[in-house]
Amino acid sequence: MEKNVTEKNTVSDAKEGGKDRRGERESARENRGGPRPAAVVVGGSSGIGLEVAQALLSKGYAVVNISRSVAKNERLRNITADITQGEELEHALQAAGAEYGNISLLVYSAGFSMAAPVEFARETDIRYLFEVNYFGALRAVRGVLPYMKKQGGKIFLIGSLGSLYPVPFDSFYSSAKAALDMLVKGARTELRRYGITLTAVQPGGTSTSFTFKRKVYPDEENGEYAKDVHKAVAALGNMEQGGMDPQVVAGEIVAQALRANPAVTFATGGKNKVYRMMERLLPEKVAEYFNNKRYNQ
Ligand SMILES: NC(=O)c1ccc[n+]([C@@H]2O[C@H](COP(=O)([O-])OP(=O)(O)OC[C@H]3O[C@@H](n4cnc5c(N)ncnc54)[C@H](OP(=O)(O)O)[C@@H]3O)[C@@H](O)[C@H]2O)c1
Repeated sequence: MEKNVTEKNTVSDAKEGGKDRRGERESARENRGGPRPAAVVVGGSSGIGLEVAQALLSKGYAVVNISRSVAKNERLRNITADITQGEELEHALQAAGAEYGNISLLVYSAGFSMAAPVEFARETDIRYLFEVNYFGALRAVRGVLPYMKKQGGKIFLIGSLGSLYPVPFDSFYSSAKAALDMLVKGARTELRRYGITLTAVQPGGTSTSFTFKRKVYPDEENGEYAKDVHKAVAALGNMEQGGMDPQVVAGEIVAQALRANPAVTFATGGKNKVYRMMERLLPEKVAEYFNNKRYNQ
């Protein structure tokens, strides 16, 4: 039988000697005759977000997906919005809050990536990338605060291991994801008084359609970097398509979401946890050497 939110917390309490008891009380309160805890996944129409949304359904959450296209699961409530268009995201979050009366979990999984040299990338593309990867996440966090301030809540922003190891020819993506990590760390301190936790998830390569949506500049726009852009894009694509199953990544995110006090940041998968540790331990130039090799630079 599938475990719901409360049951899962009880299991983790037993394992962790009661340190998660606050989580159990909170979840029990939510489930005791009250409304189902509502989770919002921004970017839940495909990939990691869709898997998270489906896993949360099986844990007893009411789940709303916010994205431009509709998630193909009739148990999900879809509200279509383009994060980059005006206040569509804010309005979608308000609609979700009004419909369910609460938002106790936010997972921001929307993302966009590109491949172009620092020297030639157009500022409009870089700004679009920051809109989807950073400003959208910031606005989603602000949008759920009116609900979470009343009852506490958990926020997961899907960043990337690319926030620790720069992706050549997409240093904009790495910059936006590094900014997410710091948003999480700063906002955690501000919001702990309301019982709100934030977590930055740092997946490594994950086999989704993300690879095929990347905006890669044509050779003529990449000038003397064209060959190196090809090598980096191919290496990145191989890492992603040969990487983790999004269902497994989602499983780790949902396991963290069921804890009373989720991690500040965490990498998904054993190999990526080791890479993350190495980045912390190795001298910067050694880490840089290995990263350059990874991208055939
Ligand atoms: N795949 C990887 O290897 C990998 C590795 C590290 C980190 N990540 C991160 O993981 C997250 C999820 O990526 P994924 O691999 O699951 O990719 P994905 O399948 O392409 O999912 C991206 C999601 O973002 C939504 N989205 C994109 N632009 C949007 C916009 N303007 N407005 C509203 N929604 C928008 C998409 O929905 P619509 O198109 O329907 O709007 C989709 O639901 C991203 O933040 C990505 O950076 C991925």
